[in-house]
Amino acid sequence: MATSIDVSDLNIYYGDFLAVEGVTIPIAARSVTAFIGPSGCGKSTFLRSLNRMHEVVRGARVEGKVLVDGEDLYGDDVDPVDVRRMVGMVFQRPNPFPTMSIYDNVLAGQRLNSKRMKKTDADDAVERALRSAGLWAEVKDRLDRPGSGLSGGQQQRLCIARAISVEPEVLLMDEPCSALDPISTIVIEDLIHELKAQYTIVIVTHNMQQAARVSDTTAFFNLAGVGMPGRLVEHGATEKIFSNPDESATEAYIQGRFG
Ligand SMILES: Nc1ncnc2c1ncn2[C@@H]1O[C@H](COP(=O)(O)OP(=O)(O)O)[C@@H](O)[C@H]1O
Ligand SMILES: [Mg+2]
Repeated sequence: MATSIDVSDLNIYYGDFLAVEGVTIPIAARSVTAFIGPSGCGKSTFLRSLNRMHEVVRGARVEGKVLVDGEDLYGDDVDPVDVRRMVGMVFQRPNPFPTMSIYDNVLAGQRLNSKRMKKTDADDAVERALRSAGLWAEVKDRLDRPGSGLSGGQQQRLCIARAISVEPEVLLMDEPCSALDPISTIVIEDLIHELKAQYTIVIVTHNMQQAARVSDTTAFFNLAGVGMPGRLVEHGATEKIFSNPDESATEAYIQGRFG
């Protein structure tokens, strides 16, 4: 399978604090990779380094390389805004712009990228993104209503529609279901399954069943203790990580013995 993201020797800092150390991992295109591990081991930090969201924190920086389709995201002449278009992100809490209509929420990223669009093109883009996010049928008659009027699960799908409306290569999701009920969670999981035909997806999850259900590859992160950097312990086919991991720490975590 083609590699979409190639990370080598990545160290991630907040000021002087080394939060994540020495991560090397290839992430296959058009597949789902799950990041698992105990709280504080740097899953979110690592995820945010994959679209240069990490550096919006004062003093935050990285060492090492992140290639997406062969291009170094941290290259000298790379604009972080372009990176975030190519590598979209969905967060733990659905965060549609509350007063903005459903329609405008979907286009929020487009409007920043390409100021003016013809009305028919905009309509098409909105419908395409909402269909891809599995939300079209539920909202097509109320596109002018505020995004905040939707249920939590619908809001999260709206955020997915917003992320994919700019046609990214990669979709990063940080615990996208942790604020949702079980039914909405399954809807999002089914959606992830469909979206991987088109996008490279990386999902952080604390839910082991979810990792096992949605991902092709699983990466287990751990840390030796408080104040120590998080490290990638092992990664591989999800089936293998869950049935026969190489490292005893992976097995202990998966069996719920810590974290
Ligand atoms: N904005 C921040 N400033 C300073 N330290 C941070 C910041 N965000 C996270 N950290 C620290 O980085 C480490 C990894 O955190 P995080 O990436 O949130 O872990 P996880 O997502 O696996 O729970 C933790 O020690 C955390 O306290
Ligand atoms: Mg986190």
